[in-house]
Amino acid sequence: AGSAATVAVQADHPGAVIAPAIYGQFAEHLGTQIYGGIWVGPDSPIPNIRGYRKDVVEALKNLHVPVVRWPGGCFADEYHWRDGIGPKDRRPVIVNTNWGGVEENNAFGTHEFMDFSELIGAGTYVNGNLGSGSVREMADWVAYMTADNHGTLVQERRANGRDKPWTLNWFAVGNEVWGCGGNMRADYYADLLRQTRVFLKPGAGQPTKFIAVGPSDDDTAWTETIMARAGKEIDALSMHYYDVASFNMVPKGTWAKKGSATEFGEAEWFASIFGAYQIGTYISHHSAIMDKYDPEKRVALVVDEWGTWHDPTPGSNPGFLQQQNTLRDAVVAAISLNIFHAHADRVRMANIAQMVNVLQAMILTDGPRMVLTPTYHVFDMYKGFQGATSLPVTVTGPDYSQGGRAVAAVSASAGRGTDGVIRLALTNVDPNKAAPVQVTLAGLKAGKVTGRILTAPAMNSDNTFDHPQTVVPAAFSDAKLSGDTVSVTLPAKSVVVLELK
Ligand code: AHR
Repeated sequence: AGSAATVAVQADHPGAVIAPAIYGQFAEHLGTQIYGGIWVGPDSPIPNIRGYRKDVVEALKNLHVPVVRWPGGCFADEYHWRDGIGPKDRRPVIVNTNWGGVEENNAFGTHEFMDFSELIGAGTYVNGNLGSGSVREMADWVAYMTADNHGTLVQERRANGRDKPWTLNWFAVGNEVWGCGGNMRADYYADLLRQTRVFLKPGAGQPTKFIAVGPSDDDTAWTETIMARAGKEIDALSMHYYDVASFNMVPKGTWAKKGSATEFGEAEWFASIFGAYQIGTYISHHSAIMDKYDPEKRVALVVDEWGTWHDPTPGSNPGFLQQQNTLRDAVVAAISLNIFHAHADRVRMANIAQMVNVLQAMILTDGPRMVLTPTYHVFDMYKGFQGATSLPVTVTGPDYSQGGRAVAAVSASAGRGTDGVIRLALTNVDPNKAAPVQVTLAGLKAGKVTGRILTAPAMNSDNTFDHPQTVVPAAFSDAKLSGDTVSVTLPAKSVVVLELK
């Protein structure tokens, strides 16, 4: 098995609190996510609660989803909120030009989103339309959702069935305005943002935080401009990063051929893992710029779109971004979450793209059937990290090498949960070799260690509607505690979460 990795946990030097919102999700009007995946309508033969699928609601409740971002994505900058309120039979039918050119009947609008969020116990993140909307439209939307007065807008909300305002936790001024959200330059956007922000006035007592469109990947120039021109006007800057295997291959591949979600070899496995580690470097770059303008770290960096992006499932509508999810996606999720934990002081929300049936989904549905993906199980194993105090970890030890490149074989993070339990997440990214690990716990006396593991026979093992249990967590007993050291052997390609009490 080779030389051991060491993971030094500094329990005596606690870091920032891991914002629960790091476990947020993203639900865009895209493909079969909203219609079919979440909303089937109250008259559907599929068991539902007021129109929301029961199986999906229960699965999401189990994850303690802290926040949902809606309605897009690119869809957000074509979405006019008034289309989605009032009697359903009078709501206009529009065409979803970004995603497959399908009809959108607006059956799922503001009331349905807010009701759904309340049902699963999640906070709310609404993405405003800057690209094709107006300042007034955004201002009215914020007031409609959050005000408690007798103005016409609020009376309209009441007439539509909601008396008290909802809680609006986050609101974004546009999405990807450098691309599908309006093809803007950073300076121009910074001015529009400053202007718009003045008129967005949530009702009294609302916790609403305002998010500016931030960079994609390593676009530090964008971060610099927005922080310099509008850093004082915002509560958060967003960042988008997709892990596309072809981009991390040598030679670099293309967007048109990102790579199959399920048919891949070790070169593609390595490329995805390499891509997952990459987000840590990019977060460090953006954080350093933010530190310059905001040393108190008042402005959060929110990674409101992240995850793997593979070629669509063969035979599916390519505009629906439907992809299968394998053990590789689970390992990418674990590495990413470990990185967010390490940056908990600045990264205070993240929203995986996306929740149901789209990209790196938690859940896949097909008519009445539902399956939980390997990524879902990572979120389940990690849920004790929500609100935990991060504990710094230093990993030293063997690399995992492939095709002349190398990454750390072990990815780790640690936290002290709100329940007092110390949790240690350890992933062995090497698909061929087990990783012996020595964990040292400075400043910690634990009496007992238990754990769960997610692994599977193959790199591309997945859960299907017919075989939903191929990649599921199991109890893990291969960790031995002696004094302030834990000795663990992580099987090849595995995600382990230990609990120390
Ligand atoms: O998540 C899919 C799309 O990716 C989003 O709509 C957009 O914001 C990004 O380009």
